[in-house]
Amino acid sequence: MNPQSVIDAAVLHIQTVLQGDSSGHDWWHIYRVWRMAVRLCAAEQADLFVVQLAALLHDIADWKFHDGDLTAGPRAARLWLESQSVETATVEHVCAIIGQLSYKGAGVATDMPTLEGRIVQDADRLDAIGAIGIARAFAYGGHAGRMLYDPDDPPEMHASAQAYRSSRGATINHFHEKLLLLKDRMQTATGKQLAAERHAYMEGYLTQFHAEWEGER
Ligand code: ADP
Ligand code: NI
Repeated sequence: MNPQSVIDAAVLHIQTVLQGDSSGHDWWHIYRVWRMAVRLCAAEQADLFVVQLAALLHDIADWKFHDGDLTAGPRAARLWLESQSVETATVEHVCAIIGQLSYKGAGVATDMPTLEGRIVQDADRLDAIGAIGIARAFAYGGHAGRMLYDPDDPPEMHASAQAYRSSRGATINHFHEKLLLLKDRMQTATGKQLAAERHAYMEGYLTQFHAEWEGER
């Protein structure tokens, strides 16, 4: 098994699997998370092979699109990694990261026991905030039939993954239920710094959004 050939093959595989996605989980989301994970990894003493594989395969089978099945992602990743003769310890580590990566609601802890996992989680979360995060939130909202904003429907701090997943709220609620909370959940030094900048950008965006809503600007 040559690590670089496995990375190259993972890129091709995930491009095929995610072809045609318009929910914000397309190949370019994977590309950005992969690049960011490599960048975050450069400042840490972490296993770059594990980080890259977990970043590339993390959305291989998202639970939101598999009826809430949290095991679909790790299972699909395991099948593929085993087909590439990746060593068992690496397969286990990558699959454990994929199984624990997802955000599951404001009130649900998503602990990540390894540094490699924290790097990939930070990279994935950075892609949910800032200019790209705003674009992805509205793309997902459109995909899921959500309103842009509903002043009569306040945000909810979901206490369980089930409640978070079944929420039908407007996309602006999602900023309060997830996006604005991510800054304080970052776990790497570089991730924290980038998240602070992207967070400030989103706050400015929301101020402008609400002012325009009322015809004030
Ligand atoms: P994670 O990578 O933490 O699992 P998701 O897969 O839940 O993130 O989300 C993918 C993208 O879709 C993110 O940018 C996220 O903010 C957005 N998204 C998820 N749920 C909603 C929602 N209810 N409304 C708007 N955007 C959403
Ligand atoms: Ni992702």
